[in-house]
Amino acid sequence: MQVPSLVRRRAATFRRAVGESYRAGGVPAALGEVVRLTGELFARPVRTWREQRLDRSRRLDTRAEPTIEPSGTFDDAVGYAPIPVHHFRQLLRALPLGDPREFALIDLGCGKGRTLVLAADHGFASVVGVELDARLAHIARANTVAVPAASVITGDATDYAFPPGPVVVFLFNPFGAATLTAVVTNLEISLKETPRRLIVAYFNPVHRDVLDDSPAFRLSSAARHWAIYESRTVRPATLVRGDRESRG
Ligand SMILES: C[S@@+](CC[C@H](N)C(=O)[O-])C[C@H]1O[C@@H](n2cnc3c(N)ncnc32)[C@H](O)[C@@H]1O
Repeated sequence: MQVPSLVRRRAATFRRAVGESYRAGGVPAALGEVVRLTGELFARPVRTWREQRLDRSRRLDTRAEPTIEPSGTFDDAVGYAPIPVHHFRQLLRALPLGDPREFALIDLGCGKGRTLVLAADHGFASVVGVELDARLAHIARANTVAVPAASVITGDATDYAFPPGPVVVFLFNPFGAATLTAVVTNLEISLKETPRRLIVAYFNPVHRDVLDDSPAFRLSSAARHWAIYESRTVRPATLVRGDRESRG
């Protein structure tokens, strides 16, 4: 039956997380993890209810659809799931921006565009979604029809040409290391051509080593679910096309 197996899976996750905390920090860490996970258990249904209410009031369709049609140049696309609203809002508050009106936010792999609506609410001058799957991009356009700052491009993130002004690039684990490496190379080239403030906000940063290894970025902050990088004040001559390839 469905429910008992879900309960069993959750219980296993719970035991694993508490065990890891115990091994890392003993009894106090394990107790802390128990408190955190118990809080999560009660908070989750409330958050789901709030997200559904937001979708109804803004007429959004943001339901997860994990199957993907095209898979991108490097065949490593991750299927669509929307970022939890509370996480995205926390992440926006953690960005070292000053005034968001001075920045454009680009969501590479925007899915149905939930982030575009929330980022426009946060005050970004413009919000751009790039989405490989034409059907998802179509839904993102419908979701942002009442958001003048928003635009949605159907295409591969590796083909996107970044605008020359201050930019926040948002990634919710949209693709594998091969696509991310190509995107970071494009960002390095863009920074070399136009040195400027460029922030990468990477949620569920599975392949963060790609950014850790980039000479163009430094880690600005990291939390449980994300890592935020800022462009270094680069000496443009130090970056040459093909740098990343030669580093393997
Ligand atoms: C985990 S979802 C994130 C959705 C959205 N950013 C959010 O936070 O709500 C990842 C999305 O990236 C898209 N994607 C995967 N590879 C891509 C690529 N190479 N170019 C553009 N989009 C891509 C997928 O189709 C999927 O919609």
